Amino acid sequence: MSNLHRRKYAGTLFICWQQLNMMARKLSSCLLLCVYLLTVVFSMVSAQYCSRRCRCEGTKMDCSHGGHPGFPPEDLIPSSTETFLMNDNQMIAVSLIAVSRLPNLLELSLEDNSITTLERSPFRLRPNLQILRLGGNKISQVVRDAFRGLSQLLKLFLDRNNIETVEAFAGIDSPSSLEILDLQRNKLTSIATSTFTGVPLLTELNLSSNNISTIKDGSFSGLKKLRVLYLHSNQILRLTNETFMGLSSLKSLVLANNKIQNLPDMVFNGAIALEFLDLVSNGISKITRKTFSGLFNLTALYLDSNNISTVEDGAFRDLVTLHTLSLFTNSLQDISASTFIGLAPDDRTDNTGLEVLYVSRNRLTTVRREDFARLTKLTF
Ligand SMILES: *[C@@H]1O[C@H](CO)[C@@H](O)[C@H](O)[C@H]1NC(C)=O
Ligand SMILES: *[C@@H]1O[C@H](CO)[C@@H](O)[C@H](O)[C@H]1NC(C)=O
Ligand SMILES: *[C@@H]1O[C@H](CO)[C@@H](O)[C@H](O)[C@H]1NC(C)=O
Ligand SMILES: *[C@@H]1O[C@H](CO)[C@@H](O)[C@H](O)[C@H]1NC(C)=O
Ligand SMILES: *[C@@H]1O[C@H](CO)[C@@H](O)[C@H](O)[C@H]1NC(C)=O
Repeated sequence: MSNLHRRKYAGTLFICWQQLNMMARKLSSCLLLCVYLLTVVFSMVSAQYCSRRCRCEGTKMDCSHGGHPGFPPEDLIPSSTETFLMNDNQMIAVSLIAVSRLPNLLELSLEDNSITTLERSPFRLRPNLQILRLGGNKISQVVRDAFRGLSQLLKLFLDRNNIETVEAFAGIDSPSSLEILDLQRNKLTSIATSTFTGVPLLTELNLSSNNISTIKDGSFSGLKKLRVLYLHSNQILRLTNETFMGLSSLKSLVLANNKIQNLPDMVFNGAIALEFLDLVSNGISKITRKTFSGLFNLTALYLDSNNISTVEDGAFRDLVTLHTLSLFTNSLQDISASTFIGLAPDDRTDNTGLEVLYVSRNRLTTVRREDFARLTKLTF
C-alpha cells in the first residue's frame, strides 16, 4: 500500500470514529433522558402500586388478616388512600408514617392487633384523621398526649382493650372535636371530674362492660351535647343527684346490670331531656314520688329485674310522654290506680297516655279493673 493510500485510509477511519463518537454521545444523552423518564413514570406507578397481602380499591387499602407486623413500606401505599385498614395483624406498636405520605387519610383501623402503648403521640402526623379504630388491642393506659394533633377526629374506638387509666380526654392535648367515643369492655374502675373535660362535643359515650364503681359528682357536666350514655354492665353502687349534672342534651341513658340499690330523689335532674332510661338488673327496691321528677320527655322506662317492692303513689306523675313502662320481675305486691297517676292520656297536660305496661313476674295478689281504668291508651 502506498503512503497516500495509507493516509487516506487513516483519514476515513478518523472521520468514521468521530461520527461514531458523536452518535454515542447523542445516544447516551438519549439514554439518560430515557432513564429519567422511566424513573418518573416508575415512581408515579409505584405510588399507585399495592403492597403484598393487601387489597387496594378506589381510595381504600385493606391489609387486614395479613400477618403484618407493621405498616407496609410507604411507597407501596397509594397516596390517594382515604381508608386504611390493618385489622387482625401482628402490630405491637404504631409507627409513624411520613407526613408527606397519605395526605388524604381520613380513617385508620388497627383493630385486633397487639398494640400495647399509645405513647409519644403516634398519630400526630395524621392531622386530618376523622375515624380511628383501636378496638381489640392490649392498651392499658391512654396517656395524656395519645391523640395529640388530631384536631379533626370525630370517632374514636378503644373498645376491648385493657384500659385502666384514661388521661387523653382531659388536657390541652385532647382531640377536642371528638363526637363518638367507645371505651366499652375495658378495665376502668372510676370516672373523675376531669376525665372528659377536653372533649366537650361528645354526642355518644360508651363506658359499658368496665369495672366502674365510682363516678364523681359532675364528671359529665361539660358534656352539653351528649345524647347517648352507656354505663351498663359495671359495678356502680351509688348515684347522687349530681352524677348526671349538666347533661342537658342526654336522650338515652343505659344503667342496666349494675349494683344500684338506691335512687336518690331527683337523681336524673341534670338530664331532663331524657327519653329512654334503662335501669334493668340492679338492686333498686323503692321508687319515690321524686325519683323521676322532671322527666317530662321520657318515653320508655325499663325497671325490670330489680327488687322493687314499693312504688309511691304518683311516682310517675311527671312522665307525661311515657309510652312504655316495664316492671318485669320485681317484688311488687300491690299496685293501684294511684300508682299510675300521670300516665293517663290528658289533653290539658298534653299527656299522651301509657301504651305498653309490663308487670308480670311480681308478687301481685289482686289486680282490680279500676286500677287501669284511666289508662285508655293501653294496648299491651
Ligand atoms: C358502644 O358505643 C358505640 C359508640 O357510641 C356504639 O357504636 C356501640 O353500638 C355501643 N355498643 C353497645 C354494646 O352499646
Ligand atoms: C373490679 O374492681 C374490684 C375493685 O373495685 C376488684 O376487686 C375486681 O377484681 C375487679 N374486677 C375485674 C374483673 O377487674
Ligand atoms: C342534691 O341534694 C342535696 C341534698 O341532698 C342538695 O343540697 C343539693 O342542692 C342537690 N343538688 C342538686 C343539683 O339538686
Ligand atoms: C322535650 O321535647 C320537646 C318536643 O320534642 C322539646 O321541644 C323540648 O325541648 C324537650 N325538653 C327538653 C328538656 O329537652
Ligand atoms: C330486696 O328488698 C328487701 C326489702 O324490701 C330486702 O330485704 C332484700 O335483701 C332485697 N334483696 C336483694 C337481693 O337486694
